[in-house]
This record gives sequence, structure tokens and C-alpha cells, in this order.
Amino acid sequence: MKGIILAGGKGTRLGLLTSVLNKHLVGVGDRPMIEYPLSTLKSFGFDDISIVTGYEHVGIIVQYLTENHDDLNFTYKVQKEAGGIAQALGLTKDICKNDKLVAILGDNYFEDDFNGVKEKFEEYNLGAMLFLKKIDYNDDLYYVDKDGIKRAKYGIAELSGMEAGKGRIISIEEKPKNPKSNYAITGLYMYDSTVFDKIKKLKPSWRGEYEITDVNNMYIEEGRLGFNFVKGFWSDMGTPETKIKTEEFLRKKSKT
Ligand code: DAU
Repeated sequence: MKGIILAGGKGTRLGLLTSVLNKHLVGVGDRPMIEYPLSTLKSFGFDDISIVTGYEHVGIIVQYLTENHDDLNFTYKVQKEAGGIAQALGLTKDICKNDKLVAILGDNYFEDDFNGVKEKFEEYNLGAMLFLKKIDYNDDLYYVDKDGIKRAKYGIAELSGMEAGKGRIISIEEKPKNPKSNYAITGLYMYDSTVFDKIKKLKPSWRGEYEITDVNNMYIEEGRLGFNFVKGFWSDMGTPETKIKTEEFLRKKSKT
């Protein structure tokens, strides 16, 4: 199995902080943002890690990781444009070949150590596995986009059969205006090697990106998508608000 951090894109939502610095090197708590997804992949047991980064910042990312992580081996892929998460993942096809993979977004913080999840993915022979987090119906769930439209901030899962204890995801919508639930799809994904054929079939979405949500819906159609609930705290760190929220969590955690 391969471990991948997707750290491309433009990172403009952190404003001035990313005018000269790569978003994934911005400090969150006492370390650069990328340290958190790195430690999640380390807890999965990976020490060979592939990084997808934007071309403007590849130098500084390579320098930072080389100087600070003798313990890990890195392979890099450069994403020339911010064409979406699925496009970034597609760049790792020749690294993954026929292997399964775990991909994490470079701006996602997970308290969960995902103990036993790799084994579960293998055991159930799933095509893909997603990780869900329930979000309160308040400002944590919604944002107003650049056209003034109120949307959910995340990919949102529609679930069925939860009462019977045999829940499954029946659809996923990316940043819907009327979310069908408050279960967010977090930025951690496990896939088999058919993910790359699925990525090839994608068309750009309403926001002009190759969406990982469209890939996940293809696994639903095949009946090969599993999911887990994330334990403990989860947040992205890609906006001033979510960065502060993560820092508040880290501060409290360091005092316990
Ligand atoms: O954080 C979870 C959410 O992440 C999911 O609920 C959504 O379904 C998923 O689409 C994603 O939404 P965002 O709009 O928040 O993603 P964002 O564009 O902020 O990108 C998150 C990270 O993904 C970014 O830090 C690096 C990577 N990325 C993103 C883009 C657009 C790339 O590597 N390349 C890209 O082109």
C-alpha cells in the first residue's frame, strides 16, 4: 500500500499568509501544517511517502522535508495547476501502479490514529474507504461562496440503513446548497488501483475542478465503497477560522 499527501492547489483562503509561503508550511500550533498529515501517514506505518505539490513551491517543500525528516523517504510529483484533488491524485499513478493507496489532504488534521483501518480495508476487499465526521448544523457546516451562495463546506454523505446497523453511503455531494445530512467527508481516502481509471473519466465540476467526490460516487455505483467514522477531533486547517479552531484544540490537548 502507498501513502500520499496531496499538497497542491493554491491555498488562497489563508490570505496574506500564503502570499510568499506555501500553505502547507504555514505554522499551525508549533509546527508547519504538513507535519499533521505526515504524522497520520506515519501512524498508518508508512515510511515511504509521496507528496504532490504545486510547482511554485516545490523547492521549499523539498528543502523543508529533506532537512527535517531523515526518518522518511519522499517521492515528489508536481501539479502544474490547481485542477482539483482528483487531478493531484492522478499524478501518482506511476508510483502506485497496482498497489492500493491511502491519500490524505495536506490541510487535514486528525486526532484519530486509524488503528486497524488498513487491515479492515484489506479484509473486506473494498474498492474505497472514506472517513466521516458529524458536524453541527451551524457555522461549522456552512460557508458563503464567492457568488454569495450558502453551501456546506464539505463533501456531504447521504446515508441509509443506519438504524439497522448496516449503514451505507448512497450518495455524496460536493459542497451542496441543501446538504442531505451533516456527515462530512474528511480528507482521508483509501483506494484500490482502479481509482486511476476512474480519475481519467472525470469532467470538471461546477467549480472547474476534477472532484474526488465524483470518483467516490463511481465506487458507490459499483457497490464497493466502505466508510468509518473518525474518532476524536478533525478539522481542515485551510481557512483562518479552521486554522484557529485546530490551534485551540492543540492548545487544550497539550495541557491535558
Ligand atoms: O477537508 C475535507 C474536504 O476537502 C472534503 O469534504 C471535500 O469533499 C473535498 O473536496 C475537499 O474540499 P476543499 O474545497 O476544502 O479542498 P481544498 O480545495 O481546500 O483543498 C484541500 C487540499 O487538497 C489542499 O490543501 C491540497 C489538496 N489539493 C487541492 C486542490 C484544489 C491539491 O493537492 N490539488 C488541488 O488542485
